[in-house]
Amino acid sequence: MDVAKKQVYDFWNEASCGEQLYLSGTEQSDYLAQMRKRYQLEPYIESFAQFVQTRNQDVLEIGIGLGADHQRFAQAGARLTGIDLTERAVQHTRKRLNLFGLESNLQVADAESLPFTSESYDLVYSWGVLHHSPNTDRAIDEVWRILRYGGAARIMIYNKYSLVGYMLWLRYALLTAQPWTGLNAIYAKYLESPGTKAYTLGQARILFRRFSNIKIHTVLTHGDLLESAAGQRHRSWLLSAARRIWPRRFIKSVLPNHGLFMLIEAIK
Ligand SMILES: C[S@@+](CC[C@H](N)C(=O)[O-])C[C@H]1O[C@@H](n2cnc3c(N)ncnc32)[C@H](O)[C@@H]1O
Repeated sequence: MDVAKKQVYDFWNEASCGEQLYLSGTEQSDYLAQMRKRYQLEPYIESFAQFVQTRNQDVLEIGIGLGADHQRFAQAGARLTGIDLTERAVQHTRKRLNLFGLESNLQVADAESLPFTSESYDLVYSWGVLHHSPNTDRAIDEVWRILRYGGAARIMIYNKYSLVGYMLWLRYALLTAQPWTGLNAIYAKYLESPGTKAYTLGQARILFRRFSNIKIHTVLTHGDLLESAAGQRHRSWLLSAARRIWPRRFIKSVLPNHGLFMLIEAIK
């Protein structure tokens, strides 16, 4: 593993996504509570993932994390494979599925070099993962390779021009008297694992250029709307004040396309 990927691995193997904020133990009730919180904060996952449509489909999820979405695919009756770069995520998801009597082929693997034969999946799903991997374009080429013709990729990556990005820029560029620092550098340094990237619509279209029927839309997230504790790493009096006066209605009507999440559906 090269240095950049080892940094990503170390970050997510320390704690899986949402573990510190939303998982209080490893009992069935803990995983259920985390799942409830997830879909309360991110309700758009349901319609994007289309869990219930995946019965009897060969589905690969890349970057399973705590495994809530993976549980939903398993419950829907998908023939399921799940991978993550970290043992921690695989252990959480294995534990979760065992507790609910569900099955999946789970393994530690790298999205940039998938250990699967070409044209073997109907759906590849990945939520908030591929922008963390140092060579995102290589990972998307791998998604294309292992999909069957007619199969779908449903992938969420970060949107560059987002309120989360602007807030981080205010805090870590403007307020530190370094206004020349660009958004790419800000995401790479201050949003989750080192080297995290975010994409413009045009860049996303280039990443998915081998696919057809590409549909892309962005959503305003709980982070953009300051509706959750997700910004705790950046806690400050300024953030607390902003939470109180944040013009959520105005943002929803005037800046609807400035959300952090970019949801991409594309067909091979
Ligand atoms: C933000 S978390 C998202 C997890 C889950 N999809 C969710 O929505 O909660 C990012 C996950 O991607 C995984 N990841 C990062 N780079 C990866 C790679 N190259 N291959 C596989 N998984 C990767 C991390 O280990 C981590 O579990």
